[in-house]
Amino acid sequence: MKIKKIGIVGSGNIGGTLGILLAQAGYEVFYSSRHPDTLKDLVRTAGPKTRAGTVADAIAFGDVIVLSLPLMAVPELDAKTRDALKGKIVIDTSNPYPERDGKIAEEARKEQGGMGFFVARLLPGARIVRAFNTVYFADLKKTKNSKGEKIGIPLAGDDQEGLQAASELVEHAGLDPVVVGGLSSSKLFDVGTAVYATSASAKEIKEKLHLKPAGSKRAA
Ligand SMILES: NC(=O)c1ccc[n+]([C@@H]2O[C@H](COP(=O)([O-])OP(=O)(O)OC[C@H]3O[C@@H](n4cnc5c(N)ncnc54)[C@H](OP(=O)(O)O)[C@@H]3O)[C@@H](O)[C@H]2O)c1
Repeated sequence: MKIKKIGIVGSGNIGGTLGILLAQAGYEVFYSSRHPDTLKDLVRTAGPKTRAGTVADAIAFGDVIVLSLPLMAVPELDAKTRDALKGKIVIDTSNPYPERDGKIAEEARKEQGGMGFFVARLLPGARIVRAFNTVYFADLKKTKNSKGEKIGIPLAGDDQEGLQAASELVEHAGLDPVVVGGLSSSKLFDVGTAVYATSASAKEIKEKLHLKPAGSKRAA
């Protein structure tokens, strides 16, 4: 699959930063917001490969969608938006924080299948890939950690094309993809895990998660 166009739903710290990195890598980026007029400065900063508009237009535009919302906003997406996401590769960055998201975050933290399963249930039909949830946005911007190594980005998904697309975006954004496994393996890099918010390199992530050196499958 040739990916050229990225639709971003939630153009805040993570969505905004990711759009800048992807535009620099040559992708066309469509930022969206409930209030597209507020994105003028971001588009100016991110440059000529970017534009901004409605959530519906961003979803229609993207070969791949980056969904980067507070978790509480995901079930609030209207039926039309959820329908539009069906069949799309959706890279979800969300994390559950009860102090911000309320009860839904408490429920998500109890989910045995991790955030991947939880979000997939909220968006049936979307081809969910978990990625970019482990990295603080200011570190994402730098792409390297304090040791000067590329930051590793753990990925999980059941959709092979989606995983491949997400790995490609991670790499082209200047970071190092680590495919952890199927969607349920996203729990290995959810909030509170050994690799969460550490800006660890891919090598360190593989060691901490006991992945085989090739990084494509979990060790038994
Ligand atoms: N900040 C980080 O360093 C970081 C790191 C990794 C993962 N994450 C996770 O990634 C997701 C996005 O984080 P972020 O820091 O980029 O968030 P953010 O800066 O607050 O941006 C989120 C965007 O979501 C949109 N939105 C849509 N519906 C919303 C609603 N009901 N309430 C609030 N905002 C709504 C807002 O855009 P409009 O108001 O323009 O529509 C807002 O710009 C979160 O789940 C977060 O936990 C964050």
